Order: sequence, then C-alpha cells, then structure tokens
Amino acid sequence: MKLVIQTFPYPLICLEQTESTNEYLRQLCSISDERPEEFTTVTAEYQTAGKGQRGNSWESEAGQNLLFSTLLYPTFCLVRNQFILSQLVSIAVQEELAAWSDEISIKWPNDIYWREKKMGGMLLENNLNGSYMIRSIVGIGLNINQDCFRGNAPNPISLKQITGREHDRQEILIGILHRIESYYVQLRTGTIPSFPAILSERYNQLLFRRIGYHSYQDSKGLFRARLLEVESDGRLLLEDLQGKERGYLFKEVQFVL
Ligand code: BTN
Repeated sequence: MKLVIQTFPYPLICLEQTESTNEYLRQLCSISDERPEEFTTVTAEYQTAGKGQRGNSWESEAGQNLLFSTLLYPTFCLVRNQFILSQLVSIAVQEELAAWSDEISIKWPNDIYWREKKMGGMLLENNLNGSYMIRSIVGIGLNINQDCFRGNAPNPISLKQITGREHDRQEILIGILHRIESYYVQLRTGTIPSFPAILSERYNQLLFRRIGYHSYQDSKGLFRARLLEVESDGRLLLEDLQGKERGYLFKEVQFVL
C-alpha cells in the first residue's frame, strides 16, 4: 500500500510483509525507469529476511516495532566522508527516542541503546562511484512495543519495556524521518560550513560509554579503556589503562557488556 502522509511529503510505502525493506528499496531502484524520489520510504510490519550488521539477521515480532528504509542520493558526499551519514541518522534516531525516554545513547557506530541494552540498529547500504557516493539505503529497526524477546539477540529491549506503555509507531517514524530530512538538507545545502563538525560533535556527546573505563575486546584480547572520541571517518579512539591510544575501525573491536 502506498501512502502519502500530509506531514511527510514523500512517498511512504507501507507493506504488511517483505523480505527486507532495504532489499525492497534496492529492487524498486533497479526496476524503476525513473529513479524513485529521494526520501522514498518503505515500512514493513514483518520482514522474512531482515538484515542486520555484520551479516546477521534482524528479527522483530510482527506488527510491534518499526522496520523501515529510506532512500538518499548523497552525491555531494565524498566516499571518505560517508560516515557523516551514519552520524546524521544516528543523531536523528537518538533525538526522537530521547523525546520518549531518558538514557538513550548511540553505541558506536550506530546502535541505539538504553542503558546497557539494545533498542535498535541501522544498516546503511551505500553505492559508490569513484570517490563520490551515489545512493544510500538507510535501514532502521527499532524495538517499540514488543513485550518479550525470544530470539538470540543478547541484550534487546523495547521502548514499551522502558516506559511501561504502548507507543504510536507512526508518530515516532514520522518524527525520525523529519529529523533525518532536516539534517540531511542542511548538510546538502552547505549553508553552515561547520555543519559536519557540529554533527560530529553532537554524535560524540550522545555516545554510549562516553565516560569512564569499560571492557573491550580486540584481536589481542580483553582490555579496559576509556573512550576518547569517534573521529569523523568513523574510527573509534580508546585510551587503555596504560595511557596508550588504540584506534579501531568497525568490527575491529567489541564492547564487552
Ligand atoms: C543491526 O544489526 O543493528 C542493524 C539492524 C538494521 C535492521 C533494519 S530493519 C529495516 C531494515 N531492513 C533490513 O533488512 N534491515 C534494516
């Protein structure tokens, strides 16, 4: 079903079931004669093969949560700056959820946490052409009204489990899409030259484990460290108990919870 909602002036395709909303958008792009409009968004009540980070699957009970993907054409963005999109989307999601609960943070690179538990995540699938980006399919999965989790995700939580009440999923969806659109348009127009730096600073302020020493694991083993910053290229900088700086790209280090 294709909906156009007054408050979100882009095509919103609402599906009962699909393999994966990211996959649906990818196929829509490949079969369309004209490219679909930027911010075209697909939601699903249920995904039969939802995709997560690191090749994992994304499981979500039917009709309880938010599963959606939105389409961007960030052709103004250099490949080496692509992490900024991940920052922008993470901030948009954190800010919307923070309107409903305290203690929402971003776990590097782009998981959404409440305290030590995961409320959601995102999967950005980017197409590149040389040193520029062509397209980004931004897929977001958030646990909103699910009461219990039986799958093998290690530490899931829903907004309902935090606040003790049901939430209006469409209101949260539209809130997130508005925030993404507003930040994205500011980034694209470039009217505030320091906007990338502002986003990066904001992202760092919202990080999970921003303060104190915590346990991590890399290819050499377990260690304790404090978070110094996430650099604009997405590298996580930690400082261990010996005062040594350690830099990591995605998948090179794990947070020990
Ligand atoms: C993660 O592993 O943390 C990322 C999860 C991303 C899941 C969302 S649900 C909507 C969209 N469609 C998918 O197949 N994956 C993303």
